[in-house]
Amino acid sequence: MVATWITPKAVKGRDSAIAGRGLVATEAIAQGEVVAVKGGHIVTTEDLRSLSEHLQNSDVQIADHRHLAARTEDEYESVMLFLNHSCEPNVGFGGNVLLVAMRDIESGEELTTDYAMFDDYDRSMECCCGRPACRGRIDGRTGSGPTSRRSTAATSGSPDTSVGGF
Ligand SMILES: C[S@@+](CC[C@H](N)C(=O)[O-])C[C@H]1O[C@@H](n2cnc3c(N)ncnc32)[C@H](O)[C@@H]1O
Ligand SMILES: [Zn+2]
Repeated sequence: MVATWITPKAVKGRDSAIAGRGLVATEAIAQGEVVAVKGGHIVTTEDLRSLSEHLQNSDVQIADHRHLAARTEDEYESVMLFLNHSCEPNVGFGGNVLLVAMRDIESGEELTTDYAMFDDYDRSMECCCGRPACRGRIDGRTGSGPTSRRSTAATSGSPDTSVGGF
């Protein structure tokens, strides 16, 4: 079983105001609630880069050179979180695969993370999050990446407040 788990309080794949499809709350979610558990196959960075661009979209980096991702198109929808990036995210990692609400989230709000904090991603994208604090361009090296994320979660005992994810 490689499927991602999503809280019954949100639905994935809805049209997003930020980009493509997103993950949207369908009822209120309290700060600290687990909103998703990322699924997928554990693959190396080399394995991941051998997959199609579409399948690489499903990746979450869980350690240096290790990722969770769909390997086939059949698995894609079930592995995807459809979490878009925001420079003012409302969801962070509470561990390598747990995604946790960083504040109270209202029904109808899109759930977002800060991609720069969760991946050693060496490409960049123009950000369309529309938040006042938008940084304009996002890449995986403007934040502290998965290693720092793990340390933060381990030392604080609470979700990292500046993280991202898919
Ligand atoms: C894992 S997907 C997220 C789900 C995606 N919206 C979809 O429909 O499949 C990541 C991609 O979504 C888009 N994206 C996510 N957040 C964005 C943002 N803040 N600004 C622009 N594009 C974004 C980018 O194309 C990015 O490569
Ligand atoms: Zn932004």
